[in-house]
Amino acid sequence: MSKTVFPLDRFQQAKTPFYYYDLDLLRQTINAALQAAGDYQIHYAIKANANPVLTDIICRHGLGIDAVSANEIRLAIKHGFKAENIVFAGVGKTDEEIDYALTAGIGCLNIESKEELEVVEQRAKALGLKAPVALRVNPEIEAHTHEYITTGLADNKFGIPMGMLDSLVDMCANSEHLSLKGLHFHIGSQVTAFDAYVLLCQLINNYNEHFLQKGITLENINLGGGLGIDYRDPDSNPVPRFKEFFDVIRQNLKPLPSQKVHFELGRSIVGQCGTLISRVVYVKSGVNKKFVILDGGFTELIRPALYQAVHLIQNLSNPDGELREYDVVGPICESTDTFLEKAMLPQTTRGDFYAIRSAGAYGESMSSHYNCRELKPTLYSE
Ligand code: LLP
Repeated sequence: MSKTVFPLDRFQQAKTPFYYYDLDLLRQTINAALQAAGDYQIHYAIKANANPVLTDIICRHGLGIDAVSANEIRLAIKHGFKAENIVFAGVGKTDEEIDYALTAGIGCLNIESKEELEVVEQRAKALGLKAPVALRVNPEIEAHTHEYITTGLADNKFGIPMGMLDSLVDMCANSEHLSLKGLHFHIGSQVTAFDAYVLLCQLINNYNEHFLQKGITLENINLGGGLGIDYRDPDSNPVPRFKEFFDVIRQNLKPLPSQKVHFELGRSIVGQCGTLISRVVYVKSGVNKKFVILDGGFTELIRPALYQAVHLIQNLSNPDGELREYDVVGPICESTDTFLEKAMLPQTTRGDFYAIRSAGAYGESMSSHYNCRELKPTLYSE
C-alpha cells in the first residue's frame, strides 16, 4: 500500500490543530468489514467517533449502533439509525436514560448487573412496556491489551459475574416486563491476539448448550468489539484484519440455527481514516533534548497521555529531511502532554505540518476544552 498523500495546499488555508478524515478509506473499511462479516450483524460503537459526517456514511452502509448513553442514542436516531438496531450498554444507566431507551424502542439494553436488571424491570413496569434485555457476562478472559482498556476480567466493573447468570436468566423468564434477547460480551479494546476470541467462542458454545438443556433458546449473541488496528504502520495496513478476525469466530463459534450473531466495532471502523494535523509552534532546545512543540496536544488526542499509546507521527512539510532526534510534545501545561519521546523525525522547523496518524477512533470523541482550548474545523478528503 502506498503512502497516504495529504492535501497540503488545503491545509495551508486551515487553522490548526484539526482532524482530517479520509472518507474513501472509511467507505473501503466499512465494505471490507461487511464483506468479512457475512451474516453477522455489526453495530458501530459510536463512542469511538460521533462526527456526523462519519456516522452518516456508516448509517448508509446499514450498520447498527452500540451506544453507552441516552445522548448517544439520541444522536444516532437523529442521524438516521433505526432504534431497533441500537444496543445500549454501560454500567451506570440512569432511570432517565433507561426510560428514554425503552420509549425510543431500542433493540436491546445490555444489562451489566442484577441491580440494574431490577431497575429496568421497575421502569418497564411503570411505562407499561416489556424491556428487551441482553445479559452482559463478565467472561474472565484476558484480552492481552493495555490494562486501562481491558474489560472482561473479574476485577473489572463490567458485566455480570458468571456465577450469577442463571439466576438472572430465571428472573427474566419469570418477569412480565423483561424479554430476554440474548447474551452480551466484550473483552476489551485494541485486541490483536485473537486467541482471546477463541476462548470467548468456546465459552459461548458452552452457554448455548447449557441454556438449551434448560429449555431456553437465546435469540442473539453479541461478542462486543475490540478488533485492533495497526498504529505502527497505517499505510501498509489501512484496513484492519476483518477477514482473519471473522474467520476465527466462524471457525470457533457454534451458533444455534436461529441465533443472530452481533458485534460492536468502533476503532476498527474509524481508527485509520482520521489524522490529527498540527503545526509546529517551536523547535525548542532543552538541556539534553530538542522538543518539537505542536499546537495540538492531549486536549485533541488524549490516547498517548492516558494509555501510553504510540501513534505514528510524520513531518508532512519536510518528509525526506535528514533524521534528528526529537521529543514531540503539545502545548498543554502538563508533562504528560507528550506524543513521542526520542523519536527520529525529519529535521523540523517552525511552521511545519505534523500528522498524527490513526487518530480516527477515540481522538475527536475524547477531546476536551482543558486550558479553554478548542479544536479547529475539521477537513475531509474530497
Ligand atoms: N462494546 C463495548 C461494550 C465497549 O465498551 C467498547 C469500547 C466497544 C464495544 C468498542 O470497542 P472497539 O471495537 O472500539 O475496540 N478510549 C480507549 C478505548 C476504550 C474502549 C471502550 N469500550 C482507547 O482510545 O484506546
